[in-house]
Amino acid sequence: MKNVAVIGTGYVGLVTGVVLSEIGHTVTCIDNDEQKVNTLKTGQSPIYEPGLDELMAKNIDVNRLYFTTNHREAFEKANIVFIAVGTPQSDNGAADLTYIQQAAKDIAQNIVNDTIVIMKSTVPVGTNDLIETVIKENLVSNVKVDVVSNPEFLREGHAIYDIFHGDRIVIGAEVAEAGDIVEQLFSALKLPIVRTNRRSAEMIKYASNAFLATKISYINEIANLCEKMEVNVLDVADGMGLDHRIGRAFLNPGLGYGGSCFPKDTEAIAYLGRKHGFPLTIVESAIKANFHQRELFLHKVLDYFNGDVEGKIIGMLGLAFKPNTDDLREAPSLYLIEELEKHGAVVKAYDPVVKHLAQCMDSVEGVLDRADAVLLVTEWDEFKEMKIENSRVFDGRYILKK
Ligand code: UGA
Repeated sequence: MKNVAVIGTGYVGLVTGVVLSEIGHTVTCIDNDEQKVNTLKTGQSPIYEPGLDELMAKNIDVNRLYFTTNHREAFEKANIVFIAVGTPQSDNGAADLTYIQQAAKDIAQNIVNDTIVIMKSTVPVGTNDLIETVIKENLVSNVKVDVVSNPEFLREGHAIYDIFHGDRIVIGAEVAEAGDIVEQLFSALKLPIVRTNRRSAEMIKYASNAFLATKISYINEIANLCEKMEVNVLDVADGMGLDHRIGRAFLNPGLGYGGSCFPKDTEAIAYLGRKHGFPLTIVESAIKANFHQRELFLHKVLDYFNGDVEGKIIGMLGLAFKPNTDDLREAPSLYLIEELEKHGAVVKAYDPVVKHLAQCMDSVEGVLDRADAVLLVTEWDEFKEMKIENSRVFDGRYILKK
């Protein structure tokens, strides 16, 4: 069993750390937010993720999972350090590497053992090379460092399940022995392993996310056409999905993709395409189509009221960017609330987990009461069988029975 440190306790870092402790490794997670670390130490996850709290509490109890703000303390016994910090989008679409660079410097200045640094964050091609150079240039101890790329494929809301049942583990290494150690680290998961060089591993992640995002935009455009032609798009998706070359997954039409990954990663790979003189026209179109999907939905609602929603009560079911998460990043709900309120509507919303917005009501009944129209925005299970007594329901996720 290994001694591991994880920098960053966001989605990816926290879930990775917790699962590694669950499979027997000793893990210390580092975050510079002291308040967050104090909460984590009590076994409470700051994010809503089914199953995570239980695994955290269990592994803290058996002394396999620790949290700290102190890099030196975490690196003292560790031979493996994960980087799992954010790579937000900068103004031109490129991934912002500020947090990654800082993590590299923190590693260089605090490691005391030979270390394998594993890059979990989604980073542009060439970043692992760059980070290895930054670490080596800033090292204060005489130790050996290898950087290995190991992109993450978990989905929010299914994160624990996805780590244990993933389709593959991608390991991109320049030094074979370093790749072998990463393979051993995950061996208890018994998942297919893909070994590549670092640059290919980095590209696998972006190309996968961009492909899935494109698949969603594709079915959304087909859905719009189906609606005009009185065709049931769900039957179309089922019929297409049975072709194993296509597959049914990610063919659910609706308001389009949101969240912390697809919007930013499609922009980042599109930026790489433009930068290298090979614009990714399909991905660029998928991005446009995704935004268009929200606009189209908004216009359906506005058109129903002949463009005048002033004083109208609009009920909104679901706020999170998808079910089983409390994440609002790039959520279509935020766009719709902003636009509807700009037009003078009063929005009342209900989400089983998101409770902090000014528009939030305590119950579905509070949303439906006196609503002039109801918008279904997130496909939480509890909305699926619901009977809504309202003359106008806009189903943004194709889940309500007619
Ligand atoms: C996504 C990928 O699925 C993960 O493999 C990847 O690890 C992660 O990004 C990441 O890069 O970290 P996530 O953003 O958590 O995961 O959520 P998804 O379940 O993929 O959904 C993304 C968006 O697509 C959501 O807004 C969802 O509503 C939308 N979607 C998904 C559809 O509109 N239709 C579909 O059929 C599927």
